Amino acid sequence: MSERTTIVGEINQVEVDPGHEMIEQAARLLLDGGLVAFPTETVYGLGALALSPRAVRRIFEAKGRPATNPLICHVWSVDQARSLAAEWPELAQRLADEFWPGPLTIVVPRSSRVPDEVCAGLETVAIRMPAHPVARALIEAVGEPLAAPSANRYTEVSPTSAAHVLDGLEGRIEMVLDGGGCQVGLESTLVALVGDEIEILRPGMVGAEQLAEVARVRDFKAQVVDDLKARPSPGLSRRHYSPTAPVRMVEGGEFEGLRRGVGTKIGLLGLCGAGRSDGADRRFLPADPDGYARGLYGALRYLDRRGVDEIVIEAPPREGRWTAIYDRLARMGR
Ligand code: TXA
Ligand code: MG
Repeated sequence: MSERTTIVGEINQVEVDPGHEMIEQAARLLLDGGLVAFPTETVYGLGALALSPRAVRRIFEAKGRPATNPLICHVWSVDQARSLAAEWPELAQRLADEFWPGPLTIVVPRSSRVPDEVCAGLETVAIRMPAHPVARALIEAVGEPLAAPSANRYTEVSPTSAAHVLDGLEGRIEMVLDGGGCQVGLESTLVALVGDEIEILRPGMVGAEQLAEVARVRDFKAQVVDDLKARPSPGLSRRHYSPTAPVRMVEGGEFEGLRRGVGTKIGLLGLCGAGRSDGADRRFLPADPDGYARGLYGALRYLDRRGVDEIVIEAPPREGRWTAIYDRLARMGR
């Protein structure tokens, strides 16, 4: 793939609108079939015109992602979402009413307008309406849905800042819109609809408890982490999101022992607490799930860059709003 110059467009999300100079420039690049990374409230996405097979193929090329892993289409309105679906179930509408714009992706039967490349040959399409003002302004300016995976090289940790995007994709994409750090920090919750029930394919910060207020949620635990054969979503393969250093999750007691040890080339990632402060090879994240999720990928990227032999993670709680965090961490282990 030929090297290109990646433009970095700084943009303040408070001032953004579809007529903003940076947004207009990004929209033109996209309409010409180019690739533009942009912030969403979850992680940065790598956008291309969803209805252009050529543009979409470039996403796979830039990421080094296998063509068997389908992409999420990002929309500006429910009408745009419906235009991508062969069928828009009532349950999809209720979920959209409740959680859009926001960090929820809904899998529905796919319209023939959606290219095979986007869906990797599946009969369904994943759709999400992001809440981030920059993402919304961009999709509105383009006037068409954008296919966008997380803006990282295949198997790397998702990016939560423009600098993370450049680490993996500089020279491979036309532009990144720099809207600062992502508020949520973990990829969206991905759900399929099974009749009147919701099936969680990838947990996220829209949790099962919240989804259950809309419809019955099929038991998720059975599928998490250990069950590698049943793979309802291609992206649920176990080693999907991980740093290059081997990652190991240990319980608090063992972690505390390592924390007190010296001289080893281990990167430590733990929960904030008494006597614990960040150091060269150690990072501590807030002990509340929202703060932890927001800081997680940045901390992992930091430790990975330190060139440690191993990253040891203190197991966080697994319950409630921690579910999605635990799921991602458990997938990083070997
Ligand atoms: O928060 C997010 O969802 C971010 C931002 C950029 O929107 N996007 C993201 O995309 O995480 P990506 O491509 O890294 O992950 C999308 C996941 C993959 O695991 C993929 O296999 C799954 O969604 N997926 C896409 N289409 C699907 C479909 N029709 N059925 C089941 N899974 C699907
Ligand atoms: Mg990804």
